[in-house]
Amino acid sequence: MSDVERTLSIIKPDAVERNLVEDIKKILIENNLIIKDSKKIQITKEEASEFYKVHQSKPFFNDLCSYLSSGPIVVLILEGANAVTAYRKLMGATNPKDADENTIRKLYGISIDKNSVHGSDSLKNAKSEIKFFFKN
Ligand code: CDP
Ligand code: MG
Repeated sequence: MSDVERTLSIIKPDAVERNLVEDIKKILIENNLIIKDSKKIQITKEEASEFYKVHQSKPFFNDLCSYLSSGPIVVLILEGANAVTAYRKLMGATNPKDADENTIRKLYGISIDKNSVHGSDSLKNAKSEIKFFFKN
């Protein structure tokens, strides 16, 4: 069974800084994820804290929010069959060292914090994360 879903992707500051946006978009498209919308923005630390609030009790929370707000990011709405799971698989494990071959994090991630991309982890979170960045 496959459902057409939408998910949120973020190309994080480390990847934007290394000019990897077009390479990452190419991988998404080649893997049947349609880019419905995308924009390059920079968010404040307060906005990053709101976005990552599920992690607020974690030891890495402060560094994570500082990092996500440290430079430009690209936020994208991806659409495709089972897009949430399909994109999580394409993204790879949180720590690039543990990521499968040919995943975006294996190819481009530097470390567990500078892991190049974000992806929603459920359909419910995908909907709220898309709303967070693409209000209209
Ligand atoms: O991004 P993903 O859903 O794979 O992982 P997460 O557990 O939701 O964590 C969110 C982000 O926090 C990760 O992508 C990492 O950048 C960062 N993180 C970290 O810096 N140190 C950890 N021990 C775990 C996560
Ligand atoms: Mg997550």
